Amino acid sequence: MTEFPMTTGGWRPMRPADLPAVAAIADRVHEAYPEDPEIFAERLRLWPEGCWVYEKDGALIAYVLSHPALAFAPPSLNTLLGALPERPTTYYIHDLALLPETRGQGAGSAIVRILLEGAARAGCPDVSLVAVNESAGFWGRHGFETVSDPTLETKLRSYDDDARFMVRPLG
Ligand SMILES: CC(C)(COP(=O)(O)OP(=O)(O)OC[C@H]1O[C@@H](n2cnc3c(N)ncnc32)[C@H](O)[C@@H]1OP(=O)(O)O)[C@@H](O)C(=O)NCCC(=O)NCCS
Repeated sequence: MTEFPMTTGGWRPMRPADLPAVAAIADRVHEAYPEDPEIFAERLRLWPEGCWVYEKDGALIAYVLSHPALAFAPPSLNTLLGALPERPTTYYIHDLALLPETRGQGAGSAIVRILLEGAARAGCPDVSLVAVNESAGFWGRHGFETVSDPTLETKLRSYDDDARFMVRPLG
């Protein structure tokens, strides 16, 4: 009998048991933007439906964290939220990170579509994020536009010199 290699993969909701693997991906992908494991754990606790991992052949190779938030108020890097706002005015994508070997195959785009649907279900009028790592082109392909706001400058610099605040309206 011929045996075929089993390759399975896809996005699925994050679970608490995934957090060590998520932190390991973050360490590799975001060397320049380190965040403590408590940050990931808090986002998962506050808004589990916005936290996903990409599992391939039993290993995690990507994750995303997102949640309803207040518009034009992105958190500083490595900062706990405490709670989500009672009346959110945006849906915030905190972090999307794919290991290098996973990029360029549509996985990033697939989860962005899932997040946009989730944001609309949560009743948010738009989706926002801080684009780092020269990722603005990727976000631009998904309808995000850079918004310049002088009041955000200090916060953006806590990410990096090229960090941009980007917003995508929901239809
Ligand atoms: C940025 C990232 C999420 C993109 O995910 P991905 O799965 O590689 O992207 P996709 O394969 O879905 O690409 C979709 C399109 O965006 C383009 N693209 C991907 N990354 C890009 C980037 N950094 N800049 C410009 N365009 C990009 C692709 O070429 C593709 O174009 P096409 O539709 O013409 O073929 C992923 O590369 C990543 O995790 N990078 C490191 C961490 C990071 O920068 N995260 C974002 C922090 S805000």
